[in-house]
Amino acid sequence: MSDELRQAALAVRQRAYAPYSDFQVGAAIRGASGTVYVGCNVENVAYPEGTCAEAGAIAAMVAAGETVLIEAYVVAASPMPVTPCGGCRQKLKEFGAAEVRVTMATTGGVEEVMTLAELLPGAFVQDHME
Ligand code: THU
Repeated sequence: MSDELRQAALAVRQRAYAPYSDFQVGAAIRGASGTVYVGCNVENVAYPEGTCAEAGAIAAMVAAGETVLIEAYVVAASPMPVTPCGGCRQKLKEFGAAEVRVTMATTGGVEEVMTLAELLPGAFVQDHME
């Protein structure tokens, strides 16, 4: 199951637009329907305008009509598995349950798995506003 996500994330990583960091990231998420959505980082000369791979995959999922993700995979050519940035942890949490597994990986094949609850303890959620 996660091999499909790995292959999808590796493939989309090739399309990353990262001329400023030269750090290409690919992300693949599986929606509750089983469909896999992918995204890559898209940088901008105005640096803060760049977007992460995870954000792209989430946008693709929502654009396709799904709002629940059940699995995620992120890959980069890093010496250690790439971890989602703080903002992306919050973005993933918006659409995934606490127990959703996020696999962080290197292109070389090193993998580390953490749940969304582990990645974002004490997440800000809707309940805080009630
Ligand atoms: N990046 C991602 O796309 N996802 C991550 O999980 C970590 C960082 C991107 C953002 C930026 O384009 C580049 O990697 C360097 O930070």
